[in-house]
Amino acid sequence: MDQTPAPARVVMFPLPLQGPVNSMLKLAELLCIGGLQITFLVTDDIHARLHRHSNIQTRFQSYPGFQIRSIPDGLPENHPRGAKFMELFESLRTKTKPLLKEFLQSGGGGPISCVIADAVLGFACDVADDVGIPIFHVRTISAACLWVFFSLPMLIQSGDLPFKGDDDLDVPIKSVPGMERYLRRRDLPSFCRSGDIADPHIEMYKMEATENPRASGLILNTFEELEAPILSKMRNVCPNIYTIGPLHAHLKAKLAATASSLPAFSNSLWEEDRSCVAWLNSQPPKSVLYVSFGSLATVTRDQLMEFWYGLVNSGQRFLWVMRPDSVDGKDWESRIPVELSQGTKERGYVVGWAPQEEVLAHPAVGGFLTHSGWNSTLESVYEGVPMICWPYFLDQQVNSRLVEEEWKLGLDMKDSCDRSVIEESVRNLMEVRKEEFLRRADEMAKSAKASLSEGGSSYSHLDRLIQDIKTKSAQVVRD
Ligand code: UDX
Repeated sequence: MDQTPAPARVVMFPLPLQGPVNSMLKLAELLCIGGLQITFLVTDDIHARLHRHSNIQTRFQSYPGFQIRSIPDGLPENHPRGAKFMELFESLRTKTKPLLKEFLQSGGGGPISCVIADAVLGFACDVADDVGIPIFHVRTISAACLWVFFSLPMLIQSGDLPFKGDDDLDVPIKSVPGMERYLRRRDLPSFCRSGDIADPHIEMYKMEATENPRASGLILNTFEELEAPILSKMRNVCPNIYTIGPLHAHLKAKLAATASSLPAFSNSLWEEDRSCVAWLNSQPPKSVLYVSFGSLATVTRDQLMEFWYGLVNSGQRFLWVMRPDSVDGKDWESRIPVELSQGTKERGYVVGWAPQEEVLAHPAVGGFLTHSGWNSTLESVYEGVPMICWPYFLDQQVNSRLVEEEWKLGLDMKDSCDRSVIEESVRNLMEVRKEEFLRRADEMAKSAKASLSEGGSSYSHLDRLIQDIKTKSAQVVRD
């Protein structure tokens, strides 16, 4: 009889939103490189979008153990999904949950060693428990923001919550252990401003502290050296944490080590305008401020004008990503003041979507005006680019506070959109305090790179994760 154990097979079930799916695909590829078989289970909607917009087919061709499967999310085809997240979440919880159970029970093509699911989908843990398969959780936000979620019950108990957006937002928050020194009301996730502890977001994220520890382990896209104080608090609640980030760079490092010539998984929702790289090539070192508010944030015409005047009046060079859908309302393009067009022609460059990782790695880039999305933050940290933060929503409010107060990697401009504040912040980052921020960013970038090299923290955590999954697989085969 053949005694060779079957290779470990993992079913990955991401939160069906662009960012988490991207991060999970990077993790999937890292696990494939580590010798695991992956069944990537997504909703039908995500399945269709991945095939339409990404290079997933070619990307995973070289991993025969990889397969992608899909189940319905229970919503009609024309539902806006991400834009009405609570409806999507409810449908997943009621309609997709039994389908996930059926899929895991059927095995989907052989014994399953474990499930890796987004912890927001707490029901995946119930299902895995029911069918007796070990589960690991993943969260694709910062440990700091996740720790704030863990602390929501304490925030309510202490009276720090509720408060409203028009209350005094500078009141210090004392009930998030380890963050007492710097956290204010305005730095909490944006939904905390609702003034209502029955707010559905608070209800949903309050479960994180009880849901996460139920899994065999929690996988985070961060690195120890960046978030050590928070991680040590979190391990009191959730002892087995694997910090394996920054995922984008970890994957690139592993691909380089395996001499794979495949391009990394494309993050892009829109076509990249690579002409900005040629423009950057003709700019002096560290002279350009890169401006991008990620894939979801929108601004009003008034806010757009404040940013534009702030940038032009700062006298600095800038490369600005203005997504086609990023300005609310119509006709704003026909009413651009001549001094802005002139200033942009002289020192600026505007694109609809940029190859961001490449841009941040470019020697001409010396700063990043960002919405503090977690991927953008990690990409900037990794490339040693100081930041000006203008957080838009959710976790970004927390991330931006850490950038300024904990990591000293830039300036947090949250809740202000005034041309003179923007101009001053840009001058500070790019001129007045340039050396100080660049020095600090360089130190943090070195530490990020060290975490990915052999023996480094993220490198070792990924090895340990793969070993732990293989051990679970051997147990599945024995049982
Ligand atoms: C955000 C948050 O990051 C996430 O934490 C939150 O919970 C949901 O919203 P997003 O706006 O997509 O998501 O921001 P971010 O996480 O920074 O991701 C944006 C990604 O798009 C980055 O990987 C970035 O490299 C890429 N990008 C952005 C481009 O490739 N080109 C661009 O022009 C702009």
